[in-house]
Amino acid sequence: MTISIIPQPQQLTVGDGAFTICASTCIVSPVASTAVAAYLADWMRRATGFPIPVQSAPTNAADAIYLQIDPTADQHGAESYSLRVTSERIELQAPSAAGLFYGVQTLRQLLPASLEGAYPAPQALQIPVVEIVDWPRFAWRGLMLDTCRHFFPMPFVKKLLDTMALYKFNRLHFHLTEDQGWRIEIKAYPRLTEIGSRRAASQQPYPIQDLSEFDYHRVILDGTPYGGFYTQDDIREIVAYAQQRFIIVVPEIEMPGHSVAALASYPELGCVGSGYQVRPGWGIAEDVLCAGQESTFTFVERVLSEVVELFPSEYIHIGGDECPKVRWQACPRCQAAIQREGLADEHELQSYFIRRVEKILEAKGRRLIGWDEILEGGLAPNATVMSWRGAQGGIAAASAGHDVIMTPNTHVYLDHYQSSDVAHEPLAQPAILPLDRAYAFNPTEGVPADKAAHVLGGQGNIWTEWISTESHFEYMAFPRALAIADALWAEQPRMPYTDFITRLQPQLNRLEQLNVNFRKP
Ligand code: ACM
Ligand code: ZN
Repeated sequence: MTISIIPQPQQLTVGDGAFTICASTCIVSPVASTAVAAYLADWMRRATGFPIPVQSAPTNAADAIYLQIDPTADQHGAESYSLRVTSERIELQAPSAAGLFYGVQTLRQLLPASLEGAYPAPQALQIPVVEIVDWPRFAWRGLMLDTCRHFFPMPFVKKLLDTMALYKFNRLHFHLTEDQGWRIEIKAYPRLTEIGSRRAASQQPYPIQDLSEFDYHRVILDGTPYGGFYTQDDIREIVAYAQQRFIIVVPEIEMPGHSVAALASYPELGCVGSGYQVRPGWGIAEDVLCAGQESTFTFVERVLSEVVELFPSEYIHIGGDECPKVRWQACPRCQAAIQREGLADEHELQSYFIRRVEKILEAKGRRLIGWDEILEGGLAPNATVMSWRGAQGGIAAASAGHDVIMTPNTHVYLDHYQSSDVAHEPLAQPAILPLDRAYAFNPTEGVPADKAAHVLGGQGNIWTEWISTESHFEYMAFPRALAIADALWAEQPRMPYTDFITRLQPQLNRLEQLNVNFRKP
């Protein structure tokens, strides 16, 4: 039996023989692990066609799958697990339900891909004898979903969470506000969704033969109104669905840049104060939130109050990237704030803005994450930096003692091309990220060894300017997300890329069974 597990377990020993799943197989689970046991039983029933009851004691000791939470067995952290398959029984042990859940995902990958999503007639199935001791290298293993350039409905978000769980991701960075659309209901500001969730048209892709033909200024609009948003009930449903899969949903509410949808809804939030429209085209807008008026911070405070009620995540992402300073330069209120606060320039005004937002979040017991531009003009005291313009920002922040999340556009931007044969690929951001480079992602590369503990982990980012359909989204995400999952889980030194390719093939069959689209490598 060949074994193909992604991400690669830290310790894996293959023995002789197999455990046979049959009509008498049951899951034995103490109360603490019942939810995970139910998840496993549900999956196994669908995959095998057997009844697979969950009980507190075995009927027949020889055919049981034992799940056990042992909080003292945590030498590799709460997300670790050990999985022992013998010909008699299966024992899965972990210090927490999360670890148990990851053991279940491994168990799932020990069974044939053909069982995913199948409803077979009952048949005896074999799981190879193995001994696995496993744990994640990083605590933060994420994907970012941009719902603003294009909106993705609830069933798709859930499907993405399901696929993420299979590969042991534990963070969904949910990008919810932008120039091109505001996608989360905020009760205090109903126009954010009444007006801000809709745009008059969308910028269309065009064919290119070579990367040099990509042109940011080539704006072709389709003339079709576009919109969508998540109600607060939707958000609660997504958060709960993710929680059941041990995934924390981290919302991103962008400020002070990438805020045109908010400005179109409440023009008084901007320096100019009128004439804003939800942007139909991509790129960077010069219009940003006015940093020189108290009412902007009142808005931020009230929006974040509702956001923290909806998202239990310790971290709230507030964007902070790509904020042009031209409006602030011309705004009397922004200039007065620079004078009043003794700031050197508009970069320090941005830093002042982010520091105030950090205080707002800290008063609510939460922590701030921002893109690496929040380093400019001085970093807020407790901010966590998400490094995207390469790793430099993250290296600088870690060196200064800040926590960082690595999402370098050199290795994990899944909106980039997967092949240099761009003429035969759908239009993408004009850069190439082949699968082997995603696999080579190492979040601590370049970080001084004594600062490496500040690297919480990393994530793949999927911006959706050119991605308007679910199948295209999956085509861009997979299989590169599997390479990233491996990079975030497996300790160094990792298996060679050729080994990943061998492990990938059965996973592609699995994705196919799950109706998840992917690019054939
Ligand atoms: C980014 O890609 N602008 C964070
Ligand atoms: Zn202003």
